[in-house]
Amino acid sequence: MSGHSPEHDAAAVDQYVARALGLNDPVLDAGREHAHRSGLPQIEVSAAQGKLLKLLAELVGARRVLEIGTLGGFSTSWLARGVGESGQVVTCEFEPLHAKVARENLERAALADRVQIHIGPAADTLATLIDENTEPFDLIFIDADKRSNVTYLGLGLELARPGTLLIVDNVVRNGAILDDPDEHGEASADIRGVQDALAWLGKDPRVDATALQTVGAKGWDGLAVARVL
Ligand code: DHB
Ligand code: MG
Repeated sequence: MSGHSPEHDAAAVDQYVARALGLNDPVLDAGREHAHRSGLPQIEVSAAQGKLLKLLAELVGARRVLEIGTLGGFSTSWLARGVGESGQVVTCEFEPLHAKVARENLERAALADRVQIHIGPAADTLATLIDENTEPFDLIFIDADKRSNVTYLGLGLELARPGTLLIVDNVVRNGAILDDPDEHGEASADIRGVQDALAWLGKDPRVDATALQTVGAKGWDGLAVARVL
């Protein structure tokens, strides 16, 4: 018996993996510190998850990425690296302070020139992009207010093409998707938003989806991955 358990050691294993694979980038780590010092919620993706986003962007040959939920720009930076120098990341953020910190972090990481931050309700930004007949995105990462997941999926689909990769963060939330949302007080709309997103991904004929549980520095959670048909 090793004496280890996922509950106690998942964060330590994430650190081990990050060190073994060289995922602790000093520039991105400084950006994360800047975000935490600025009072942003400490809910950014882990380094391992960020690297997964970069690899997925590279694997699908993404030139254009849409991110919903910029926060301090940590996942944004990984995605921006994934699209390469000539690629573009369009990212939506509701909170002006988050957008300001993200912009500073992207500048520090020399990635600002390939990232456009739209401040305001993401649904409005997406509607504008649809009206403008924006070129379809190759990868769409949804990681914002969970209660709006289905809104973002629906609008995101209108900005996608067959083959676009959809990724939805936080679809397990410590197992809360098993619960009755009404028993979660203020979080009920967000739990329902996650449940509805999975139901939507399961039944909408325009997508083909799976979801995986994850443990790590961010606890027990998961992500859904789908291909637009
Ligand atoms: C939490 C984590 C996230 O990745 C997120 O996007 C929102 C909330 C959380 O742990 O509460
Ligand atoms: Mg998230």
